[in-house]
Amino acid sequence: MFAFNFNNTTMHIFYGKAPLITFLKSIKIGDSTIGFVPTMGALHQGHLALMKKSLQENDYTVVSIFVNPTQFNNPEDLAKYPRTIEEDIKKMTALNPEIILYAPTVEDIYEGQTVSQSFDFDGLENQMEGKFRPGHFNGVGTIVKRLFEIIEPTNAYFGEKDFQQLQIVKKMVSKNNLNVTIIGCPIFREANNLAMSSRNERLSIQERSEAAIIYQTLTAAKEKFKTNSAQWVTEWVRKSFEKNPSFSLEYFVIADEATLLPCFKKNKNKKYRAFIAVFINNIRLIDTISLN
Ligand code: PAF
Repeated sequence: MFAFNFNNTTMHIFYGKAPLITFLKSIKIGDSTIGFVPTMGALHQGHLALMKKSLQENDYTVVSIFVNPTQFNNPEDLAKYPRTIEEDIKKMTALNPEIILYAPTVEDIYEGQTVSQSFDFDGLENQMEGKFRPGHFNGVGTIVKRLFEIIEPTNAYFGEKDFQQLQIVKKMVSKNNLNVTIIGCPIFREANNLAMSSRNERLSIQERSEAAIIYQTLTAAKEKFKTNSAQWVTEWVRKSFEKNPSFSLEYFVIADEATLLPCFKKNKNKKYRAFIAVFINNIRLIDTISLN
């Protein structure tokens, strides 16, 4: 264990699972609860909101910072993923020094075999992110399951920006009968409504400001979906991005929130959500909005 001292407050930091497990066993008494916030670091207000919720709802809060190599299908994306551990520790200490941090090495997690397990998420993995980032959700499933085994949380907190990931984690928990409650939390947005993401750190000031178009498009699509079909709205979004040379649209999909299958014919009993992925200067941004 390592104790980080900032402004005279000390935070528990673990780089290996063995001392973390021993520590958690020593503090967990009776029916005390552990809230868990898994992250890949480069912490922003969205992450801190998940931590605040966990701190409010649990006796202990564990946060993990681990840039998981098996969920990256693009080596450049993995290499360029922001790594800001010292800043992250300062932010967490300022929020609440009682947060317990697990920042493992690749070796500590994968023990020499940096590969994903293969999962069946009942088809949720074949849409959107799964289609465009092959192997991504096997990597996410592998790391989240591994972290749950190590930390044994009572509650785990995930942001709705990665809505497909949230549904997939819920599916994994129910299929494997894992004893953890998954809690989805609303998207945090910057002043111009760009969804907060660690990848935003890679945007220039100009790109960050231009990226406001993503949420503007989603809210316009929501409005248009009231009176138009999913196909019509999808085509409208495609054409809007065609006019904007700064962006390349990877996908825009209107899908059933539960199954994530694309909507072909509206059914008033279903809940729909729009999902978008765009590139700006090779930086990939995603966002989502509930439509009804
Ligand atoms: O959403 C993320 O940051 C990651 O996918 C997660 C859940 C921490 C797993 O690496």
